[in-house]
Amino acid sequence: MHIVVDTEARIAKLAAAQFICLIHQKPDAVLGLATGSTPLGLYAELIRAYTAGEVTFAGAASFNLDEYVGLPEAHEQSYHAFMQKNLFDHIDLPKERIHIPSGIDRSPEQLSGYDRAIAAAGGVDLQLLGLGCNGHIGFNEPGTPFETTTHLVQLSESTRKANARFFAGEAEVPGEAVTMGIKTVMNAKSIVLVAFGAAKAEAVERALRGPVTPDMPASVLQLHPFVSVYLDQEAASKL
Ligand code: GLP
Repeated sequence: MHIVVDTEARIAKLAAAQFICLIHQKPDAVLGLATGSTPLGLYAELIRAYTAGEVTFAGAASFNLDEYVGLPEAHEQSYHAFMQKNLFDHIDLPKERIHIPSGIDRSPEQLSGYDRAIAAAGGVDLQLLGLGCNGHIGFNEPGTPFETTTHLVQLSESTRKANARFFAGEAEVPGEAVTMGIKTVMNAKSIVLVAFGAAKAEAVERALRGPVTPDMPASVLQLHPFVSVYLDQEAASKL
């Protein structure tokens, strides 16, 4: 595991550079994408690089980690809308190769179909992950077995509280989500984990230094051979 500690602004550039280098080497790369506030700087940097002619996503494909259940795609807090607004509207990634789990059709066929679609695309080359304060990755909450593939989850109270800042209030945050499973995430060929701020420090320490246990979902990353971790000083303060 490779750990980089730097400012939020420089991390956005460094982590984006990892995606850009991958696309230069493999124009048809399969990108694993994430939502939340953490990737915003990285996405801004990808948009800047695309606009400056430094990279094209025309041959690439993407699979997002997760989506809330029950929000229409057009709802401004759906992860579909988030990705359009913060990345896809501004780059040339072809629409037909963008994949986000459906929060509307959550039939068993749709859930297992997501993992099959990832496999059919050749697997995720580089998966971006943020980190929940309770150690969740995607929406895999503490206690999620490591063998899980894409599945339906009940969101924990702490996650709903943490995400309430994006909604009119906690009551508005959906109670369920569809997420890539831990196994789906671990199948990626390489992984980039990004965390900023003191609120993530304990989860970072437990994930990187603590025992590997489903009680701390991100600790599973200790078992992956190619993980880069990008932290600011605050998130790294307990290491
Ligand atoms: C959400 C997302 C995760 C994200 C996490 C952290 O619940 N499902 O993919 O990593 O919260 O969010 P933030 O980056 O806003 O701290």
